[in-house]
Amino acid sequence: MPEVHESHHPLVKEQLTLLRDPATPPATFRDVMRRLTGLLMYEATADMRVRPVTVTTPLRAEAQGVRVAERVGLIPILRAGLGMVDGALALFPEAEVWHIGLYRDEETLRPVTYYNKLPQRPRVDICFILDPMLATGGSAAAAASILKAWGVGRIKFVGILAAPEGIRHLHDHHPDVTVHVAHVDRHLTPPPQGADDPPAGFIVPGLGDAGDRLFGTGP
Ligand code: PRP
Repeated sequence: MPEVHESHHPLVKEQLTLLRDPATPPATFRDVMRRLTGLLMYEATADMRVRPVTVTTPLRAEAQGVRVAERVGLIPILRAGLGMVDGALALFPEAEVWHIGLYRDEETLRPVTYYNKLPQRPRVDICFILDPMLATGGSAAAAASILKAWGVGRIKFVGILAAPEGIRHLHDHHPDVTVHVAHVDRHLTPPPQGADDPPAGFIVPGLGDAGDRLFGTGP
């Protein structure tokens, strides 16, 4: 398995509970996802490289400090990844934000790229793929491939929920990409047998369709 960091922080677990609750309306869902992303980014950046600096305090005493030495790129996967951007920018206001549009074909569950606004060359040292859901892992693996072809060396995936199937798929294709999530759930839904069954490839217990929950859309 790739390096998987499941948060055990009580605040993360509490906010995840709100996201799972179908009674949570889109406005609250967006707010909670923003705050949750900040907490997950805090944990995901604990190993960032820093350089030493010296500062003179109001007491005219010198103190040793640090500055973060890595330029950060945030890569939200449209559409649901948009819900994580503000929370990540709160920690890294100077980060560059580059959008990749991927949707999952409902029949094949394979990712389809429909938007890519990356500049010619990366100007960042580390990229954080932002997507609430790591389900089959197809979208995350495709995004990591795009970023590597673009020339980024260090990539982390930050999401809300992951299924074991998705973690395995991402690991098979990108063993170097670490995963940071609020929780690793049980499994994915199988292909539906009856009209009342949910569609295939949804995370269980999950939180439903993250994009629809964020933006108030859906069937
Ligand atoms: C969801 C989710 C991920 C993808 C995860 O997006 O936000 O991008 O599915 O599935 P995977 O791990 O099996 O690839 P969706 O295709 O529903 O698009 P949306 O964000 O536009 O709603």
